Amino acid sequence: MSAFQTHEGRVAVVTGAGRGIGQAIARSLGERGATVVAIDLRDPVETVSQLTDSGRTAIALTADVSDPEQTAAAGAEVARRFGRADILVNNAGIFPFWDIDELDYEKWRRVLAVNLDSQFLMVKAVLPEMKQGGWGRIVNLTSNSIVTAAPGLSHYMASKMGNIGFSRGLANDLAPFGITVNAVGPTLTITPGVREVHPPEALEAVAQAQAIKRNGQPDDLVGTIAFLTSDDAAFVTGQTIMADGGYAR
Ligand SMILES: NC(=O)c1ccc[n+]([C@@H]2O[C@H](COP(=O)([O-])OP(=O)(O)OC[C@H]3O[C@@H](n4cnc5c(N)ncnc54)[C@H](O)[C@@H]3O)[C@@H](O)[C@H]2O)c1
Repeated sequence: MSAFQTHEGRVAVVTGAGRGIGQAIARSLGERGATVVAIDLRDPVETVSQLTDSGRTAIALTADVSDPEQTAAAGAEVARRFGRADILVNNAGIFPFWDIDELDYEKWRRVLAVNLDSQFLMVKAVLPEMKQGGWGRIVNLTSNSIVTAAPGLSHYMASKMGNIGFSRGLANDLAPFGITVNAVGPTLTITPGVREVHPPEALEAVAQAQAIKRNGQPDDLVGTIAFLTSDDAAFVTGQTIMADGGYAR
């Protein structure tokens, strides 16, 4: 099914775009007409090929989005190549399970750096171009785990609560520039990252706790993100949408 060209003329930067949810978001924004900048630690070549093979414009940038120098360089490259940055989807994230005894300061810092610092750093990296364009859409990935509260995720929940606070605060600062900022929280979603840390039997229990009794897939997020990054969402800012199949709380 071909999507409407709601994002024609926009440049969309998506982090963690090499696989999983970020790959689905990048593909969906590209199919809707955006030029896509796919950023990942590992060269997101497959994501870019999926778009360029069907005649879309997309480039891959390899960067660690928790690193100030690498995010600044990525922002400079977007400015050099396209002279604009209309959409930023801060999706890159990690979710290792550690209880408080296993957690040390280094692990804590790494999770906070990848999941939260990265969103700040990427905003700083693209903001000059976004402001100059007088129009912008920022979406920060959070997680419904902030309320479902699985054991062994205190570091992750702290970072994902941070994503919501950052989005809510930034919405105020950027509204005068025509830029909206929102957060989107998936439920447990079947991605390569999830398969690495969740035993298969845990997945069904999550599905049964939702109103919609099946596990989320990356494509379950793309409609919400397409809306929030479109013209239609101009009056929606500072919000958090849990696109989580109606998880019972
Ligand atoms: N899958 C889920 O169940 C779920 C649920 C709620 C929220 N989320 C959130 O959705 C986002 C994506 O999750 P996913 O399941 O697709 O993960 P994933 O592990 O399948 O993919 C994440 C991608 O991000 C990249 N990445 C990781 N660290 C990076 C860094 N420092 N710099 C650049 N790229 C980096 C990885 O290389 C990978 O390609 C995360 O923010 C996660 O917290 C996921």
